[in-house]
Amino acid sequence: MNTLETTVRYVFLGAAACFVIGLHLMNSPRTARRGNTISAAAMGAAITATVVLLADDGVITTTGWLVLIAGGVLGSALGLYAARTVQMTAMPQLVSLFNAVGGGAAVLIAVDDLLQTGDPSGLAARVTVPGALDIVIGAVTFSGSLIAAGKLQGVVPSRPLVFRGARPLTAVLALVFAAGTVWLVLDPGSTAPVLVLLVAALAFGCTMVLPIGGADMPVVISLLNAFTGTAVAMAGFVLDEPALIVAGALVGASGGILTKLMADAMNRSIANIVVGGFGTGDSAPAVGDTGGAQVRSLSADDVAIQLAYAGKVVIVPGYGLAAAQAQHELGDLADLLEEHGVDVSYAIHPVAGRMPGHMNVLLAEANVPYPQLKEMDEVNPQFPQADVALVVGANDVVNPAARRPGNAVSGMPILDVDRAKSVVVIKRSMGHGYAGIDNELFTDPRTGMFFADAKKGLAELKAAVRTFVG
Ligand code: TAP
Repeated sequence: MNTLETTVRYVFLGAAACFVIGLHLMNSPRTARRGNTISAAAMGAAITATVVLLADDGVITTTGWLVLIAGGVLGSALGLYAARTVQMTAMPQLVSLFNAVGGGAAVLIAVDDLLQTGDPSGLAARVTVPGALDIVIGAVTFSGSLIAAGKLQGVVPSRPLVFRGARPLTAVLALVFAAGTVWLVLDPGSTAPVLVLLVAALAFGCTMVLPIGGADMPVVISLLNAFTGTAVAMAGFVLDEPALIVAGALVGASGGILTKLMADAMNRSIANIVVGGFGTGDSAPAVGDTGGAQVRSLSADDVAIQLAYAGKVVIVPGYGLAAAQAQHELGDLADLLEEHGVDVSYAIHPVAGRMPGHMNVLLAEANVPYPQLKEMDEVNPQFPQADVALVVGANDVVNPAARRPGNAVSGMPILDVDRAKSVVVIKRSMGHGYAGIDNELFTDPRTGMFFADAKKGLAELKAAVRTFVG
């Protein structure tokens, strides 16, 4: 190894350390931006080091350099444009598209490497096995992520699309993966097993994601993100490129942990989500059965009086707030109450909404001060002191039935809204949430229901509060 190669290896090592530090800093919103910058700078250094090494080797032709530069410029420009212009609510689709790009790139690396080798018989299992895994995982991620992005964007129907024979087909495709890999190891450099693996994996990505409901898509995207990382790590083995192996392994591991955390907080198993057919989510308002219990319906003025004369208000935002894009109206109402001397805070459930950090992102967009956001463990003991718990478009995350066994939310950690002195719920109807079950909080004698679309209702409420506080 000459001095340049040694230096490049040190750059890779430094980059890997920076990836870990960057990930660690992303633990807190305060340091997340710095973490992102450090990781991006490390990736920039690793890419530069690779390019310098390639230039020194002299293996790349002029055309090769032109393709490399054109690809780098085009990819960076598109990425920058997409990241700068995306709406916060469209972030899951964008992440899914980026996953597709990552998976697709990893597949191209493996296909190129497996087919372009001058002496195919020299391809050891050390390369063909990761190559086959790279093709399978990368192609599953590519087609699966495109379908997931389509579902979230509404281009593909978001309901579970189940067709006859889907399960047996999935089992057959899994067998094809195993057979194709063995074939590739026995006949390295041959085009046929590469094509078989590619086609089977692209089909598997579609049959895996189509039956999953739109509301489960964030978990699936997180899972596909973990797949992207794993495919990239495999590409690192194929190319013998340590920086790719480390970066891919980190994405794979952190994506896997996030997927598990999300599934746990939703009280579901990953297998249960991937098997699908549950959680179509974004349904039209339905009328729930109250089982004869009385529902206390409130007007905007009723709620405004309660809020204006409260000492402490805890706001609980849920999926309905995000669906209605009512974060700005909520922020304005909270500001008005604060100006009037009311102590306002926001209770953030880890899976409120439909993606991790959904509420934090939405409220940050409405310039809600970060210290006002309280995580579940911190805010739950404060509910008994709250004069009003204002629930906006949340349902499952405040359902006391979670404390009892035998229902769809049993065991799910919830916000203890029912322990507040009084509760106001803003939603359009008695309709169910994602889990599809009744919520006894809505018929609790201390709860008043303000039936309205979150955006419209909050605007009305702000106007009504203004009349009371002058
Ligand atoms: P949900 O339980 O889904 O309830 C949302 C409520 O919002 C619905 O009952 C709906 O009632 C109301 N709503 C919908 N549109 C509205 C609008 N425009 N204005 C006012 N209200 C509206 O939401 P949640 O409490 O936030 O719980 C989240 C659920 O999603 C959990 O079950 C969680 O497991 C699941 N989930 C979360 C994630 C992550 S990571 N966050 C990922 C996947 C699934 P009406 O129809 O009566 O208005």
